[in-house]
Amino acid sequence: MYSGFVLLAALHFLRGCHSLSDGTLAGERAVQSGATPLLEIFQVEAPLRKTYDGAACKKVVIQHEFAASYGTPYVGSYSPPANCKFTTTIFNLSITSYGINYDRLGLIYFGDVELWRLTTAMPVRTGIFSNYQKDVTIFDPILRSEQKVIMTMDNIYDSTFTGAWNVTLTALYYDDHKTLTPANKILPISSQSSAQNRISVFSLPDGNATSQITLPRNTERAVVSILASGNGAEEFWFRNVESEYLNTFNNSVLYGYSPFREVQLLIDGNLAGVSWPFPIVFTGGISPGLWVPIVGIDAFDIPSFEIDISPWLGLLCDGKAHTFELKVVGYDSKNTFGSINSNWWVSASVFVWTDPQGKQTKGSSIQSSVPRPDFKLTPKITSSAGTNTSMYLKLTASRKLSHTARITTSSGTRSLTWAQDLSYTNVEDYTNLGYNKTLTQITRGSARYTSSGGLLPLPITNSYYWPIHFTSDNLVPINPQVKNQTLIASIDRSSVETTIPILPYLTKSVSQIFPSILTTRQAGDSVYFWNNTYYQFAGAIDPAKGTVGTTEQWYSFLDSDTAYGRYVKAVDGYEPVLIVDKEFGEAISVPNTDVSSAE
Ligand SMILES: *[C@@H]1O[C@H](CO)[C@@H](O)[C@H](O)[C@H]1NC(C)=O
Ligand SMILES: *[C@@H]1O[C@H](CO)[C@@H](O)[C@H](O)[C@H]1NC(C)=O
Ligand SMILES: *[C@@H]1O[C@H](CO)[C@@H](O)[C@H](O)[C@H]1NC(C)=O
Ligand SMILES: *[C@@H]1O[C@H](CO)[C@@H](O)[C@H](O)[C@H]1NC(C)=O
Ligand SMILES: *[C@@H]1O[C@H](CO)[C@@H](O)[C@H](O)[C@H]1NC(C)=O
Ligand SMILES: *[C@@H]1O[C@H](CO)[C@@H](O)[C@H](O)[C@H]1NC(C)=O
Ligand SMILES: *[C@@H]1O[C@H](CO)[C@@H](O)[C@H](O)[C@H]1NC(C)=O
Ligand SMILES: *[C@@H]1O[C@H](CO)[C@@H](O)[C@H](O)[C@H]1NC(C)=O
Repeated sequence: MYSGFVLLAALHFLRGCHSLSDGTLAGERAVQSGATPLLEIFQVEAPLRKTYDGAACKKVVIQHEFAASYGTPYVGSYSPPANCKFTTTIFNLSITSYGINYDRLGLIYFGDVELWRLTTAMPVRTGIFSNYQKDVTIFDPILRSEQKVIMTMDNIYDSTFTGAWNVTLTALYYDDHKTLTPANKILPISSQSSAQNRISVFSLPDGNATSQITLPRNTERAVVSILASGNGAEEFWFRNVESEYLNTFNNSVLYGYSPFREVQLLIDGNLAGVSWPFPIVFTGGISPGLWVPIVGIDAFDIPSFEIDISPWLGLLCDGKAHTFELKVVGYDSKNTFGSINSNWWVSASVFVWTDPQGKQTKGSSIQSSVPRPDFKLTPKITSSAGTNTSMYLKLTASRKLSHTARITTSSGTRSLTWAQDLSYTNVEDYTNLGYNKTLTQITRGSARYTSSGGLLPLPITNSYYWPIHFTSDNLVPINPQVKNQTLIASIDRSSVETTIPILPYLTKSVSQIFPSILTTRQAGDSVYFWNNTYYQFAGAIDPAKGTVGTTEQWYSFLDSDTAYGRYVKAVDGYEPVLIVDKEFGEAISVPNTDVSSAE
């Protein structure tokens, strides 16, 4: 299907031109002045519209440089565009950086509501830039009022970590001549810290992610949108091991609490729904050599997960406050669920549509089926002369849950169901005294919402399949004190999803629903060297000469108004360059990720 790839000259993507504005920053940057053009780092994604031209108006929302920004977020204000008729709002986030640094996590809040969570690319000495667009129309009521804007991007900036981040967020407003039916209210499940000029994210397990929420009595539809991601010892939670196997090898740092995570939403202590998260690989993940210039799937826009809580409206519309809690749990071989390491950042928003004719939504009691999940752990440790030489850990899990209730609004009585069906397999295989590692994980799930009437009474089914397989071999133990290290790594993973993005559909007032069909696969390998510049805490972000790899990605997307395909291939490493970039105005066939080692 993609015969005749277009071979691009390096110049095609080394576009953009770099001019240093002033001398206020460290010498490291001045050295770059006027030198190599910036390298574009990108996430492969279907464009949000045929053209971004023709905006009814534009507004710069954030323009800020995050340098030594640990604990000091950007705080600013937003006001809706004056004299501008618009329906669709798109945020364009543009980031540049020069120097070396780790990838950094960014969170953007309007008041106490999180709009966007992202990671940056890892910069290279000669500079990078990225542009990414996100449709934020679902937040329409927030975008039409004055807001405090808070963005964090905790960054270290000193003589070792020389990369600062220049961030510009522009809002593009389009008048698409549609009638919007946005949520009447967006209620945050967050720490509600904006008054203290802080982002409202909750940190787990060290805090409690609880909010008291009072829904309007005439709520007709309510959907919770959850953002959750791991940091530190939880950044790559899917390669953690069950805690009882932490000390199998004395030469590798393993993290505990299993490679399984469940993000839970509880309403008054009852489990309303769960997410078994997508294994995000941030731009330093597995091997930093894999992710320049093509970043990992979803790295620039960490996906939310939606749980329709409309079956709970009979309970929630009593005019009283109810406790909404977010939890993240791991597998524990003794108690089924257990703790996690530090930390997960979580927050959520309840999108509420009201029934203008209704006084109070009533409902039957909820029929819930929430059995405990099934887990099975198969461990196998091999040892020789008293030394553990290999470790194989296979964990499988499955879970089903559902909630059904009859709800009465001004338009009548109907039966609503929210149901989820999930399965998971994770195989971690350590050989060669733990220096060599293979991981294969498969997450499958479906979430279903059905209603016999009411607002958008169409059945919603979202299903996804997320296989990931990677290897990482360290020739000597990873040790920040040791110079001249080599990491040999490969990755193959996919995201295959058939979804009906419920919040956009409810916001856009549609009468027909088309599922979005996404199939994308990334495959790559890399040999990453650190020479004697490998100094403590910074070595892993500065590849030495000889570091080389390739990463390719197939991407196919189809929905009611987009058909899009793209194939890209890059040579990563010391001198990264995009060698193939081919776009298609149609869905393309995407080869499968090989996860046979998990079967
Ligand atoms: C996003 O912003 C960058 C930097 O200002 C700009 O170069 C790019 O064209 C913008 N993209 C869109 C779609 O407006
Ligand atoms: C950051 O980017 C903006 C927009 O491109 C530019 O005007 C500004 O000078 C840059 N700031 C720094 C410190 O480089
Ligand atoms: C979280 O809630 C639990 C149970 O209510 C309580 O024991 C614990 O002290 C709380 N932790 C924090 C940090 O508030
Ligand atoms: C071998 O691995 C087991 C399981 O992790 C561990 O309990 C034991 O201490 C290890 N033995 C040695 C010699 O490290
Ligand atoms: C780790 O175990 C190996 C094999 O038992 C042993 O030779 C080595 O000295 C140990 N290393 C450390 C740091 O304990
Ligand atoms: C460990 O990985 C290295 C580098 O990929 C490879 O050469 C070696 O054969 C592997 N050893 C084992 C026992 O798999
Ligand atoms: C690391 O490699 C460099 C050459 O790239 C060499 O000059 C240096 O001696 C090596 N250092 C160690 C500790 O092996
Ligand atoms: C070590 O790597 C750095 C960064 O890539 C490079 O600038 C330097 O020349 C390398 N040194 C040697 C001895 O290879």
